[in-house]
Amino acid sequence: MGKSSLLILPGDGIGPEVMVEVRKIIDWFGSNRGLDFDVTEDLVGGAAYDAHGTPLHDETMAKALNVDAVLLGAVGGPKYDNLDFSLKPERGLLRLRKEMDLYSNLRPAQCFDALADFSSLKTEVVSGLDIMIVRELTSGIYFGEPRGIITEGNERVGINTQRYTESEIERVARSAFELAKRRGNKVCSMEKANVMESGVLWRETVDKVHQAEYSEVELSHMYADAGAMQLCRWPKQFDVIVTDNLFGDILSDTAAMLTGSLGMLPSASLGAPMENGRPKALYEPVHGSAPDIAGQGKANPIACILSFAMALRYSFDEGVEADRLEQSIENVLSKGARTHDLLGEEGITPLSTSGMGDAIVEALAVSI
Ligand code: IPM
Ligand code: MG
Repeated sequence: MGKSSLLILPGDGIGPEVMVEVRKIIDWFGSNRGLDFDVTEDLVGGAAYDAHGTPLHDETMAKALNVDAVLLGAVGGPKYDNLDFSLKPERGLLRLRKEMDLYSNLRPAQCFDALADFSSLKTEVVSGLDIMIVRELTSGIYFGEPRGIITEGNERVGINTQRYTESEIERVARSAFELAKRRGNKVCSMEKANVMESGVLWRETVDKVHQAEYSEVELSHMYADAGAMQLCRWPKQFDVIVTDNLFGDILSDTAAMLTGSLGMLPSASLGAPMENGRPKALYEPVHGSAPDIAGQGKANPIACILSFAMALRYSFDEGVEADRLEQSIENVLSKGARTHDLLGEEGITPLSTSGMGDAIVEALAVSI
């Protein structure tokens, strides 16, 4: 592999401290596996607002458009609650997603064997769980116009618009079918076609792409509310779920919790291929900035480290090294190592954020 460029945006709250652990992992791959990354760090979210008065500086945006992959920690915090909407930390992340055109957001929900007892659901419901939620990320109600708060008569009205074009649905559907072909060959598409026209178009378009290009993949449809219920009842019925931006936001948090902790789950946001054939890509943990535990060494760095594993797989074609990293994490967990979010069993002293990072580096060292 030639030198690859990586832009690291630690962000706010626990973002910076989990990213320190990811840097250890990146360094390990550099020194031991010849994966040479040209790493730049910059600000996003509240951290960028504090420094520049904007949650994403134009220069940072330009850098993001020019690297092989972006790795982001988390954004947001109570300190920024009263800022104007356009300046909130979350806008920095949304701008990255939109301007990089990262339309396909992959959110795996995988249950590590060592943590199966840790889920709030029965062990048999979650053990061996391996599903992939593909969330449309650049359109829908998050970005639709008109939007805003207007005044009508003597009261205010809040407006957001759900809007999807056929081509937006087609490209995310393709992404889901392609993934399914490399996994369990099943896609379940979720919308609310019973009440929303955008849901009707979603269903028709997914069907059209399926019939024309992917008829060998098994396709089913579910209303998103029923899908939420089925995710809790018997999640192992699913392989790939494809859904819109807002339903995907909610369903992926539900799916995340099936696995025991939000502190475990990575994500990849992918766009169209660049000139070098790699997709535009941003990798980030599904969890947020967790301001309540920030700076205390309590955060679980695994979601962010697994996000780097996804970068190895989807941006750098290093599937074997991604497997190595995921297996090392699995080994650390099966030996009983836990961070604060994974307690519950008696008599276990939790590792700090950096303790977990070090344990993973040690497990990597014995993997070669
Ligand atoms: C997510 C988050 C974001 C979203 C926020 C931080 C803007 O909840 O990535 O799931 O709503 O998309
Ligand atoms: Mg969310």
